[in-house]
Amino acid sequence: MGKVGVTAAVVVGAAVCAAVGLLVRNQLRSSGQCARADAILKEFKDKCGAQNSKLKQVADAMTVEMHAGLASEGGSKLKMLISYVDNLPSGAEEGVYYALDLGGTNFRVLRVQLGGTERGIINREFREVSIPPNLMVGTSQELFDYIAAELAKFVAQEEDRFHLPFGRKRELGFTFSFPVMQTSINTGTLARWTKGFSIDDAVGKDVVGALSSAMERQGVDMHVSALVNDTVGTLAGGKYANKDVAVAVIMGTGTNAAYVERSQAIPKWHGPQSESGEMVINMEWGNFRSSHLPLTEYDIGLDAESLNPGEQMFEKLTSGMYLGEIVRRVLCRIAEESTLFGDTVPPKLKTPFILRTPDMSAMHHDTSYDLKVVGSKLKDILEISNTSLKARKLVVELCSIVATRGARLAAAGILGILKKMGRDISRDGEPQRTIIAMDGGLYEHYTVYRVCLETTLRELLDAEVSKNVVCEHFNDGSGTGAALLAASHSSYAS
Ligand code: GLC
Repeated sequence: MGKVGVTAAVVVGAAVCAAVGLLVRNQLRSSGQCARADAILKEFKDKCGAQNSKLKQVADAMTVEMHAGLASEGGSKLKMLISYVDNLPSGAEEGVYYALDLGGTNFRVLRVQLGGTERGIINREFREVSIPPNLMVGTSQELFDYIAAELAKFVAQEEDRFHLPFGRKRELGFTFSFPVMQTSINTGTLARWTKGFSIDDAVGKDVVGALSSAMERQGVDMHVSALVNDTVGTLAGGKYANKDVAVAVIMGTGTNAAYVERSQAIPKWHGPQSESGEMVINMEWGNFRSSHLPLTEYDIGLDAESLNPGEQMFEKLTSGMYLGEIVRRVLCRIAEESTLFGDTVPPKLKTPFILRTPDMSAMHHDTSYDLKVVGSKLKDILEISNTSLKARKLVVELCSIVATRGARLAAAGILGILKKMGRDISRDGEPQRTIIAMDGGLYEHYTVYRVCLETTLRELLDAEVSKNVVCEHFNDGSGTGAALLAASHSSYAS
């Protein structure tokens, strides 16, 4: 080999060595970085652990808090609000009634035509409108005027056959899904906002008064006959469809539950005992808190930076408004401490609430071999392109950890209610059937979450009992339920 040849061979050899060296270094570096990402995920998973023994402690704590909340006003983080619904719909309700359902990202106006025992619901029409984000943090007048204006349009467009006899006012059931201290079936004051609403001038104010004034300003001539929480509406709508419904749970933007309590078991209730001896309680379980809840640093950070720090902790672990945000927070930490998503933290990943739970759900349900949906969500929402399969798998695993913890805790909450009602154990004689009326976007659309919740509840109950405890989806039970309660509390009722 000549001199030139030798030199060339040495140069090529050196270049190859350098390239191989770089490759190996990069690989080592990236496997080190992946190891860091894996470690963060593993630590998070361990802290989210909600094994059955822990869930039973959560359920017991829920039962204890229920007792405390029923005993005295302010006796517990659980408000256990008295709904003034002491009779759920009987099925005999008749006539045309309206409902307004406000409490999540959308609100609905609806009209229900009831045909009594024989004919049931003859007609049901609704209109759904999303709430402009600026109205969620504006003034109460702006918000109520906006919904009253939609109600006005809805009524203006209805057919003549729905017109009421001369002299009779239209009646409305108002589903207002926030903690309201009721003073009767159609009066109450807002205790505080939840779920990203923050309108200072409404807290402590008469909710029905605010809606009635807005309706007057918008030219809607309607009487509010019932003011109900969405859980109470769902319970009413559920019971109308199936008499075994005894509990209602909403898993949507927020979460909450209502159930039928014996009025004698409500020491703080000083009103007259109802004929039925029962009272529906709006638990406001979103505000439940217990040392048994598996909290992580990400939950603590989310809470501290939320609009309502220190409040709604159970809701922040389990409901649709927050699950995607928890995932984002963990991803952000991974991006800060590893190169799984590139050398720098993708700027979009730093934006709170950019990753919504429906997108998290879409990623979690991705069954394609190369996790295509995950790849495109990461690209479209977080502007992270060319993600490795390893990174996508980690994201799915993360969604699974967050959803599983939420769903299992929700199941524990339901067990707590069943315990309080004495329906968690089998008794002699006829087995008692309990239907839990479920609704909310999270429950309806996040299949893995729903299945996990239901499986966990079965696991927690003993086999005999679990045969008779069923979760059933009642779509828009809350709106229909509010219209039914307006009917059963009609001011024209004989
Ligand atoms: C929030 C509200 C509660 C409602 C629940 C579900 O937790 O405070 O009133 O029932 O969301 O919408």
